[in-house]
Amino acid sequence: MVFSEELIKKLKSAKTVSVLTGAGVSAESGVPTFRDPGGIWEKFRPEQLANFEAFMADPDFVWSWYQHRREIMRNVTPNQGHYALAEMEKIFPDFNLITQNIDNLHRRAGSRKVTELHGNIERNYCIKCRKDFNDIDLTQKKVLKCECGGLIRPDVVWFGEMLPYNALKFAEECARSCQVFFTIGTSAEVYPAALLPLIAKQYDAYVVEINTRPTAISMDVDEVIEGKSGEILKELTDIIKKELNK
Ligand code: OAD
Repeated sequence: MVFSEELIKKLKSAKTVSVLTGAGVSAESGVPTFRDPGGIWEKFRPEQLANFEAFMADPDFVWSWYQHRREIMRNVTPNQGHYALAEMEKIFPDFNLITQNIDNLHRRAGSRKVTELHGNIERNYCIKCRKDFNDIDLTQKKVLKCECGGLIRPDVVWFGEMLPYNALKFAEECARSCQVFFTIGTSAEVYPAALLPLIAKQYDAYVVEINTRPTAISMDVDEVIEGKSGEILKELTDIIKKELNK
């Protein structure tokens, strides 16, 4: 793979680099994406599963689906893209990884500064008293109840819900302040996350998209690198390390 001279030049001088990741980054680990052929939203409608009303209407059904996804996610391992991003954190003085993924794979690959915009499937909380329940037995197919009587739900952002305020504010600040912004493995169809690359562009960052196919924002970014993010990120990180003698 040949990377543009412009990108390498920008990365060599960049102090602040921000990254937005989506489901595509975990595809090479075997986690299904949402909108690709065969993706999750082809099998289920979001309103059947990923919203509070659906949970209240049939808590066991929604809970068992999240248990199923938790099982998939616990049984996969980070891929070379996750590891490359964890390495980048050590290379750049200010590196911020913002993810829409709930699968915890960035942390498992060693990334420390991870901003989760859509929550984390490993965490759960009681809808009544907000107590955390983070160590869940996967065999538990029926929804769990807190000692206060409240239902326990996954700590993920459902349709119609606000994103965690501090995480979103921080992500916007990362988009405004970086010299290079990567948008990786996301269809850029879900807002407000999809605005982040556009904010970065507005604030003069060099915006690079890595994806297996064109997205809603491909025309708006400075550079598109088409292909699998795991392979591309591994190669790119090796080049940066060589160029910067790291
Ligand atoms: P999508 O499923 O919408 O998009 C996945 C993107 O990854 C697509 O653009 C694919 O082309 C790309 N892709 C697939 N395999 C890839 C690979 N190996 N390398 C690079 N790119 C690849 O997933 P997201 O954009 O993450 O929200 O979806 C955003 C949000 O929609 C999710 O966080 C979720 C969902 O509803 C909530 O649940 C709140």
